[in-house]
Amino acid sequence: MTRDTSDREDEADSTERAVPDGGTAAEDGADDVALDPWGSATIADYRKLFEEFGIEEFDEVLPEVPDPHYLMRRGVIFGHRDYRRVADAMVNGEPFAALSGFMPTGDPHIGHKLVFDEIIWHQQQGGDAYALIADLEAHSARGMTWDEIDTHARDYLLSLLALGFDPEEGTLYRQSGDRDVQDLAFELGSEANFSELENIYGFSGETSVSHMQSVVTQMADILYPQLDEPKPTVIPVGPDQDPHVRLARDLAARMGYFGVTKAYASFEADEEERELLAAAYAALSDEAEAAGDGEPVRCEDAADWIADEMAPDDARDSVVSKLREAGKEPLRPRVRFLDRNATEEAFEALIGAVEGEKRVFEEHIDSFDLSREEAEQLAREVELDHGGYGFVAPSSIYHRFMTGLTGGKMSSSVPASHISLLDDPEDGYDKVKAATTGGRETAEKQRELGGKADECPVYELYAYLLTGDDDEFAKEVYDECVGGERLCGDCKEQAAQLMQEFLEEHQEKREEVEDLLEQADIELDSQRKRS
Ligand code: TRP
Ligand code: SF4
Repeated sequence: MTRDTSDREDEADSTERAVPDGGTAAEDGADDVALDPWGSATIADYRKLFEEFGIEEFDEVLPEVPDPHYLMRRGVIFGHRDYRRVADAMVNGEPFAALSGFMPTGDPHIGHKLVFDEIIWHQQQGGDAYALIADLEAHSARGMTWDEIDTHARDYLLSLLALGFDPEEGTLYRQSGDRDVQDLAFELGSEANFSELENIYGFSGETSVSHMQSVVTQMADILYPQLDEPKPTVIPVGPDQDPHVRLARDLAARMGYFGVTKAYASFEADEEERELLAAAYAALSDEAEAAGDGEPVRCEDAADWIADEMAPDDARDSVVSKLREAGKEPLRPRVRFLDRNATEEAFEALIGAVEGEKRVFEEHIDSFDLSREEAEQLAREVELDHGGYGFVAPSSIYHRFMTGLTGGKMSSSVPASHISLLDDPEDGYDKVKAATTGGRETAEKQRELGGKADECPVYELYAYLLTGDDDEFAKEVYDECVGGERLCGDCKEQAAQLMQEFLEEHQEKREEVEDLLEQADIELDSQRKRS
């Protein structure tokens, strides 16, 4: 999330709506789940994020994560893209990185703590950890002055260090202060154009150029950990940042020298067409094998099969006509290297490096013996040898937004709805005591029916923060609540005390790490004219 719910409301009825899939989202309900990095961030229905935007469920990779963080175990981290890559690297002791960014628009609060914890955990698991201050974004998209930015940036960094980030092992930077990031942003910007930003973020003719620059800067942030060496990189954020993650994944691929895809014949096919080809191949190769006459599956046979078996649509019609044109050419699965941005020497070098049976075309190479993974690896090696970046597509993990303490969403304009990491511990105590709960109208009913822990902001505080790593404790609160043994008064008293202790301790630690921050390699005072 980085910036979370609290700031978004302040944006007076934003007309910048994200349509993260470039405008093809299903009409039905697409609005409730529009993911907008600068808009309002209530997520009406997390399931739609899976169905419509292709975010994957975290539970499905959880078993592959060594010693998962409690936010993962408790489903607070609910979704991901390509996190398996990162989990694999952890398991195999290979390099990986984690990076997230924070817009210094206000005080860091308990929502930001989730992201701090996620970065720190990846650092403790052996990853290269990065945290950046998105000062260009805060200045251009939120109109923050440089003085405000400096104050908030310092507060974010102190909390991050207080929670355990090791600045000697990890990297801290601000967007405005890092030349490498700016150079990379410039290069990435050459692969994106205005229409695309318009589609993704709803930018218009009124959008400032600096705001657009902050977008390519974020793209550079996301790929920054790979500048020295490509590696799996996870970006822990709230789901509102998914449009950024998707664009970064696209740009990483577009910057590449080679694209690697599956193919079935010499002609080009898109994703949908490839699915039809795969189906035809699977069906017909079984038949061919059963016939045992050594005859290959031919394109024209596949054309007949697809025309018979599949419902007519554009993809079907176009692949059938391509197959007819290819006629007697055998249909054979292969891995294809497409020349995207390769220099001539790099393309030649790749031809030489592909082992086993291959066919070389004007702008692509087909390999019949390499697996897709081997092919991707090889393409990356050749690219790196010839001076390219060789980016690995960045991964992401998404956590749920916390409910506001007053019900509804957390908002920085409603101080009672959230707890700042800088709140006076006694105010923290009071806010928890005053929070909305999932309790019943009377103690009697509560004993009889149990509380609604799943709808209770106080329970969220326990699960997301107050019980820390202690699953037993979290479960006890939950079970006692829904079982009717726990009543809201005592429950809130306990939570309020824990919150007060947490804030006291955190604030003490913030003081202790001040020196550490002074020594860290990050500029704390903007050297900019006040504008
Ligand atoms: N856009 C993010 C926010 O709204 C901040 C950010 C900038 C960021 N660069 C990033 C987040 C890179 C994750 C990765 O808070
Ligand atoms: Fe929420 Fe606690 Fe009340 Fe249950 S008992 S509804 S967890 S405040």
